Amino acid sequence: MKDKEPTQKLEEILERLEALKAEVEAVKADIPGMVIAQKLDSLNNFISGMSHEFNNPLTSILGYAQIILGDLNLPPDKIREYAQLIYKGAQRCEELTRALLASANRTSSWKTEYLDLNQVLESNIKLIEKTYQENGLTIERDYGQLPETEVNRGSISQVFINILRNGLDEMSQLKEGTMHVRTYQERDRIYVIFSDTGRGLKEPLKVFDPFYTTREVGKGTGLGLSVCYQTMKLHEANILACNYDEGSRKGARFILEFPIVEKKDETPAEESGSEIA
Ligand SMILES: Nc1ncnc2c1ncn2[C@@H]1O[C@H](COP(=O)(O)OP(=O)(O)OP(=O)(O)O)[C@@H](O)[C@H]1O
Ligand SMILES: [Mg+2]
Repeated sequence: MKDKEPTQKLEEILERLEALKAEVEAVKADIPGMVIAQKLDSLNNFISGMSHEFNNPLTSILGYAQIILGDLNLPPDKIREYAQLIYKGAQRCEELTRALLASANRTSSWKTEYLDLNQVLESNIKLIEKTYQENGLTIERDYGQLPETEVNRGSISQVFINILRNGLDEMSQLKEGTMHVRTYQERDRIYVIFSDTGRGLKEPLKVFDPFYTTREVGKGTGLGLSVCYQTMKLHEANILACNYDEGSRKGARFILEFPIVEKKDETPAEESGSEIA
């Protein structure tokens, strides 16, 4: 099936944004409180960042279209040059809408299940491992015994995949490296730690900011880790990013800390999954 036109996607996103804004206002009016205020702040930052990202390509699309329309006698090579810049801007908008729609669809049905995170992790590693192995990379597992905990499988899988891909893509450029994945339980928390042997994070404090990317133009939206951060917050879980240097190994490290949410009782309603905020 043919993809939707970029303008149609853009309209769809803008409609969602309007709906989101209305929701934000409704929640603000209903439930005051620190946690909600923080969530709204990060949502507002996200919306501002997104508007800014759209404005850059839209400014060049509008500007170059105006130049062409203002002088229909421009030499053909100029028209071609400007048309190419318009095309590039539209491509950037399309890339952004695709990433945004993907993250919006992920959160639209929020069912939770009681799962063993080792199994969720392993099934996601299996999905991507082969391609990276062919590039000379290794994924090492060090799974500790974990109790089941309540999570949304799809969004947590996305968190694992984003972190794995970031590290593996980084090491692919070096043509060698190891992604070490460790899990363990400590008191009422589950830890999942990803350590790669790439060049490390250039600016560890910025990696969760929406649209922060060091990838070349067209290669990354900079939304991967900011979506991971939001997902972790929805699970009341934490995520930290840092660089490590342990003698023979150094690189980037992501530490995920989940609360253990145990099954309360075996009522049929809970067996079929439940909703969390
Ligand atoms: N394992 C890593 N090693 C080095 N840098 C990393 C690593 N993980 C993340 N980063 C840095 O954090 C930035 C943001 O990552 P994020 O996943 O949010 O966006 P991205 O990978 O650039 O694009 P995309 O939205 O397509 O995922 C990356 O551009 C990179 O600079
Ligand atoms: Mg990424």
